[in-house]
Amino acid sequence: MRRAAVIGLGIGMAHVAGYLKSEDATLYAVCDLIEERLSKVGGTFSQGSMLCLQPLFDQELLDKRWEEIGVICYRSIEEVLCDPMVDIVSICTPDYLHVRHLIMAMEHHKDILLEKPIALHVSEADTLLPLIAAYEGRIALGYEFRVVSAIRKIRELLAEDPTSLVEAFSLYHFRTPFRRDKWMHWIEQEQYSGGLIVEETCHWFDLARYLTGKEADSIHCVTTDAIHDDFDYEDIAYINGSFKGGGIFQISHALSGFDFSLQITVHRKHEVIWCGLKEQPYSSLDNGSTSYHGIVSRGRVGGTPDEAQVWTFAEDASEPVAIRELVCRFTRCIAEDLPFPADVQDGYQSLRMAEAARISARESRIVQL
Ligand SMILES: NC(=O)c1ccc[n+]([C@@H]2O[C@H](COP(=O)([O-])OP(=O)(O)OC[C@H]3O[C@@H](n4cnc5c(N)ncnc54)[C@H](O)[C@@H]3O)[C@@H](O)[C@H]2O)c1
Repeated sequence: MRRAAVIGLGIGMAHVAGYLKSEDATLYAVCDLIEERLSKVGGTFSQGSMLCLQPLFDQELLDKRWEEIGVICYRSIEEVLCDPMVDIVSICTPDYLHVRHLIMAMEHHKDILLEKPIALHVSEADTLLPLIAAYEGRIALGYEFRVVSAIRKIRELLAEDPTSLVEAFSLYHFRTPFRRDKWMHWIEQEQYSGGLIVEETCHWFDLARYLTGKEADSIHCVTTDAIHDDFDYEDIAYINGSFKGGGIFQISHALSGFDFSLQITVHRKHEVIWCGLKEQPYSSLDNGSTSYHGIVSRGRVGGTPDEAQVWTFAEDASEPVAIRELVCRFTRCIAEDLPFPADVQDGYQSLRMAEAARISARESRIVQL
């Protein structure tokens, strides 16, 4: 059984849940700078990105100290990486630390699950690529939407006819603002988080690539940052683009909502696949009229609603559960030497799209990749 350590206990708590569930690894250590997060398993669930993760744990476990469940607490990343018992690390520190912490973990020969984004800038990621190419350990990226049950269903439906290419992809994401109580407020400044487009739209660029099997050719992006005065970057981004080899995409990403909605459509010559994800079964956007987290519908182009096939999904279509599942898949892939759901190249290509979108917005022009 391989021994894992989670570095950064914000969203890192979903990684903790993953290692606790994994049949291929055991949770050996955690590492953080906030004493409260190290004092007991349920450290500070009300802060940062953690509140939505609470249902992943039994209350009884949350009340225990880490040592009581056999997990060592480290207060510095150097210490945890120097521990020869640690085989695997999840790097869940703020975005601007990812490159530094990834290099440190590579120097200590760990297998690594790195939270997104891979870096804040393509130039930084470029310096990483030769190191990664020569690296003997394994590195996965935290793109958990790839393992969301409804997203996997879309892939399965598309795979039924691999000869039919995707002609258009759209993704509309409406969500509440980023929380303001993250460690040292790193998310509020572009120099630490990369802004909306690098921090979070990278997930949607990744899904565009994953569900179409295509790479972006050109990107145009417009943004507004007039809504949240305390964040120094865009609140909403509208992005259009084309794929190499044909096909178009559109992504709309708004941090100014009061609920969560993610809608995806994938268009092919004879069919359309539509997917909707919610954070909770209850949503103000459908008057609480449904009981699922996710829905996928497939219909003929020009067909009727009653002819469409429909699948609904429970909490395995939600983000916290997906992160836990990604961690389990990551450890299984290491144990059985299988490809990861998302790897460094996926992190790199989605960052290239994000950077192109930022340049497009800043310079008011279409950017070729
Ligand atoms: N995959 C996803 O859907 C998803 C969701 C949320 C966050 N994230 C990513 O996870 C990362 C963390 O985000 P968060 O929301 O948990 O932030 P957060 O601020 O809530 O937590 C970050 C934690 O890292 C700790 N930390 C900072 N520097 C450290 C160091 N040198 N050594 C040890 N610990 C250190 C902090 O003390 C803090 O507890 C970010 O990269 C973010 O993009 C991914």
